[in-house]
Amino acid sequence: MSDLLIRGGRVIDAAGERVADVLVRGGHVVEVGTGLSGDEVLDASGCVVAPGLVDLHVHLREPGMEEAETVDTGARAAALGGFTAVVAMPNTEPAQDDPAVVMAVLAAGERASCDVAPAGCITRGRAGEALAPMGELHDLGVRIFTDDGACVADAGVMRHALDYSRALPGAVVAQHAEDPGLAGSGAMHEGAWSSRLGIPGRPAAAEDIIVARDLILAELTGARVHFLHVSTAGAVEMVRAAKARGLPVTAEAAPHHFTLTDECCASFDPVFKVHPPLRAQADVDAIRAGLADGTIDAIATDHAPHPVEQKERPFEEAPPGMLGLETALALTLTELVAPGLLSLADALALLSWRPAAIAGLESHGQPVEAGSVANLCVIDPDLPWEVDPLRLASKARNTPFAGRKLTGRVRHTLLRGEPVVIDGEAQR
Ligand code: DOR
Repeated sequence: MSDLLIRGGRVIDAAGERVADVLVRGGHVVEVGTGLSGDEVLDASGCVVAPGLVDLHVHLREPGMEEAETVDTGARAAALGGFTAVVAMPNTEPAQDDPAVVMAVLAAGERASCDVAPAGCITRGRAGEALAPMGELHDLGVRIFTDDGACVADAGVMRHALDYSRALPGAVVAQHAEDPGLAGSGAMHEGAWSSRLGIPGRPAAAEDIIVARDLILAELTGARVHFLHVSTAGAVEMVRAAKARGLPVTAEAAPHHFTLTDECCASFDPVFKVHPPLRAQADVDAIRAGLADGTIDAIATDHAPHPVEQKERPFEEAPPGMLGLETALALTLTELVAPGLLSLADALALLSWRPAAIAGLESHGQPVEAGSVANLCVIDPDLPWEVDPLRLASKARNTPFAGRKLTGRVRHTLLRGEPVVIDGEAQR
């Protein structure tokens, strides 16, 4: 059996940091040390070798919206972004509320450039009423349950889902926290900019009210709750307080929520439309503080591809969502690590081992040591590059970061020992 050597990198994982060669054979790491040799060599000098990144929040659009993305194209974008596993959101058509749909996504994922873990719906058709067959979905390996794109607005339904989830080992109920009555048909954050632009707003209170309510429900039921794409200062503060009380709550934040504000919407460019919306600077600052102090557990992209002809409509009519898989790591390095807010190890914890633990993805986010599955990424932390939407692997083009200069890029990605990205080029 031939082996592959990742030579001369700075290995960073949950166990610490050291300069070492990593020898991979048969899909596993077999040795970590110095002076190793292998049949095939991937250069990692000047680079960081880390467990592959794990994205808790990705829209792959298959089945039903393959003109925007497919499991194959989304997973390729993920691998280029350093991800070895992604959680596929269930707002497909049909929705992932049924074992047959989940099985189809799993089957598509088997041939993909990263592991694809389908999330299951909380309710049938994401309608917020009858529970989806959570037990049957759990039997297929589903661990994250969410109606993402839609909030479970009815407190009774949410309580029922939380109660039920307690019987499912490893299950976590993940909420898209935006009260639909308050968010209404708002198209951006409600504040000074929405008033000035005349665009109807979605108030921060829409998010805060659901986070407050679901924390109460988490306490009532004892179930695990995860908050998707947290975007408000109020939500960060409530999650911080809940953790201090010992509640089993976790939260993620998206790169666009720690880098962009509602002022971007002044361009009327729908590429800046997203749910929950880009918020005010005070919210961005609070998200950054929450990432720095551990209140927020994971950076998740909410990668939401849309076809050009749909996204390039008037702001209020365009669908919400932005691409994220190929820019998340570089935004984290450029915006959070370079200014000293996070260490490199903290950033990788947020992008790899903490989300892997939340999703129960046991072969991801593991220490780089003999015996672990070789799901790895090699990052050049100093490589400068500029985001060019036309060069993204995603089928869609709706990145809000076009033209942005970033530092740090994935060099190689290994999925179960197989290089799926070499020198920044996709191999599948
Ligand atoms: O902006 C968003 N787009 N937020 C969501 O929750 C759903 C997503 C999508 O599916 O496009």
